Formats: sequence, structure tokens, C-alpha cells
Amino acid sequence: MPKKILLIGNSDGIGAAVTRSLLAQGHQVVGVSRSPSPLGIEGPRHMVLDISDPHYPETLRRLMAEEGPFDTCIFCAAIGSGLHLPDLSQEAKVIDVNFTAMVHTLATLLPGWLKQGQGHFIGLSSLADDFYNTDAPSYTASKAGFSNYLVAMALKLKSQGISITNIRFGFVDTKLPKASWKPLMMTPDQAATYVMRCLTTKPIQLSVPKILGFALYGIRWIQSLRIWLS
Ligand SMILES: NC(=O)c1ccc[n+]([C@@H]2O[C@H](COP(=O)([O-])OP(=O)(O)OC[C@H]3O[C@@H](n4cnc5c(N)ncnc54)[C@H](OP(=O)(O)O)[C@@H]3O)[C@@H](O)[C@H]2O)c1
Repeated sequence: MPKKILLIGNSDGIGAAVTRSLLAQGHQVVGVSRSPSPLGIEGPRHMVLDISDPHYPETLRRLMAEEGPFDTCIFCAAIGSGLHLPDLSQEAKVIDVNFTAMVHTLATLLPGWLKQGQGHFIGLSSLADDFYNTDAPSYTASKAGFSNYLVAMALKLKSQGISITNIRFGFVDTKLPKASWKPLMMTPDQAATYVMRCLTTKPIQLSVPKILGFALYGIRWIQSLRIWLS
């Protein structure tokens, strides 16, 4: 059954790859990002919008009134910012885009979904949500909050027919990751296949690649030991 899908952050990277897969499977997509859709005016409806704008929830409500109701929302938008002391000017912005805007998006969709007794929210998080990253603390902190919030909401809303999926990705070959070493990196199209699978299987959480998840868990354990000993 074709779905009507709101895709936040689909002008590039994984969001753009997911959009291509959704359209190829006959789903309807409405996209949002700061730059126009790479698919041009022939492509699906696209709203040029900065989701960290204070008026974002209001603008999203208007978009939903025009294009809704949506069966599913896929939240792919994020920015990263390396920490270059003493410049802390971008730290709060990363939290605003990656975490706060996601909370606003879910809060705007939920009342309608609660009335309908159905809806599916898929959020793209990171395997780095569980370790202390001194090079980009705002990014990993935004994902720590993102994952914790979505899994808690998933457990809360399951009994009311609403599904929430948190996908924790390892490295994906887009402009976002700045790490010098990117083991087990996947392409955006490979990442999109996992998102497409979640559209039907609706897990609460998916971590890929699992082996990298275990490795990061090990690093986090060592970090905790160092903190405990310090
Ligand atoms: N790539 C990786 O290695 C990796 C690993 C783990 C998790 N993830 C997660 O996967 C998701 C997608 O990442 P990606 O690698 O595909 O990143 P990307 O290529 O940088 O794409 C990010 C998307 O978000 C949009 N966006 C950014 N800031 C926005 C804003 N203020 N308002 C509206 N849209 C905004 C961008 O569009 P505009 O610039 O046009 O606004 C773009 O479409 C993110 O949540 C990321 O944290 C990525």
C-alpha cells in the first residue's frame, strides 16, 4: 500500500537516497530542507525551510494542513560541528537542529496520529550516541538525547498503535562524517535499504553495523573506567 511520507532532510546524503527508494516503490514523498530538492520541480513537493527556525513548528503545521495526513515521517536532518576551542558558537545550533527540531517534528505529528490510532516515526541516529567524543561533543550529545528520547517514546506509544523506530548508523559515505578513520563505511543507498526495511518491520531500534556497535560499546566501557579512576 503506497504511503504518504514526510521526509525531513532529504536534499542530500541518506535522506536523498531514501527519497529515491521511496519514489521507486510508488510512495508519495513531501520533503523539507534548507536547499531545494535535487529532483527539481518535476520531483515531489519540497519545502525549503530551516528546521532550527523558531517558527518551524508553525510552518510544519501549515505544511501538514496542505499536504497531510502523513502515514510516516522519516527524520534524516542533522549537522555536525567539530569543537575548536575557544569557539563554541555552533555547539547549541547542533543540538537545535539534530535533537530539538526532531522533538518539535514528533510533537507536531503525534496529536493527529493519536486520533487516528496509527503512524510511524523513523529517526536517524548514530552508533556514536553512546560514547564521549571530545572532537565533536555536541554531535554525540545530540544523538544521545535523540536515541534516548525516541526509544522512550516508542515504549510509551506502542500500546496506542503508533510506531517509533530509532536507527543507529555507523559510517555512511556522505559529507557529514569528518572522522579520519571510517571503518565499515556504507554507501547512502546501502543505508537507505535499512531505512526501507524498517518501514515495514517497524523495530523500536536498529543498530548497523552491529560489530561497530559492539566496538563502540567497548570504547565507552574503557572511557567509563577512566572516568571512574580519575
Ligand atoms: N553519514 C554518516 O556517517 C552518519 C552516521 C550515523 C548517523 N548519521 C545520521 O544520518 C542522518 C543523515 O545524515 P547524512 O550523512 O545523510 O547527512 P548530510 O548528507 O549532511 O544530509 C543532511 C540533510 O539534512 C538537511 N539539513 C541539515 N540542516 C538542516 C536544517 N537546519 N534545516 C533543514 N534541513 C537541514 C540537509 O539539507 P540542507 O543542507 O539543504 O538543509 C541534508 O538534506 C543524520 O541524522 C546523521 O546524524 C549519519
